[in-house]
Amino acid sequence: MNLRFGSKRITLEISCSKGINIMPNYKINVNDQNYEVEAEDRMPLLWVLRDLLGLIGTKFGCGIAQCGACTVHVDGKPTRSCVFPISQLSGQNVRTIEGLAEGVNLHPLQKQWIDQDVAQCGYCQAGQIMSAAALLEKNTNPTDDDIDQAMVGNYCRCGTYNRVRAAIHGAARLMNTQVISSTNEREA
Ligand code: FES
Ligand code: FES
Repeated sequence: MNLRFGSKRITLEISCSKGINIMPNYKINVNDQNYEVEAEDRMPLLWVLRDLLGLIGTKFGCGIAQCGACTVHVDGKPTRSCVFPISQLSGQNVRTIEGLAEGVNLHPLQKQWIDQDVAQCGYCQAGQIMSAAALLEKNTNPTDDDIDQAMVGNYCRCGTYNRVRAAIHGAARLMNTQVISSTNEREA
């Protein structure tokens, strides 16, 4: 709007509610913590995690759901966070690599990843571990075929596939041993 006072012309910029770009607020639960974030509804979950929440363990690889580097769990399901818009989250729980350990106790997969020296450059590994964790939630004794099927969408440029598979078998054994020993403790 232009106003004239004597010889002076003043330009006023008046924002009306239509012109103000208000971003929506989303309430999300990540690793058992509640957050409220302001984000465009098409913002991929990956950027919400990394840029807004500072959870940088989840990696960006291809950005088109092809490599698996960005895998997180959404209600336990392995999900490519690079193509999952924040607006699609409605009350589900998100788990990232940062939320896999219980306090100081590493997840059996993380222990095996260390013991078997799986990682090379490490870039794909958070996504590999999250896919493997989702597999072991459903199948505590996976065969090689089960593992290959579950991990087929997780690429590793360094070719760590054999060690990934061995570590998943090792973690399954560890988890089954833990279950047996806690059952024995309860019965003693
Ligand atoms: S970065 Fe998401 S699948 Fe590659
Ligand atoms: S360890 Fe380098 S890409 Fe997988």
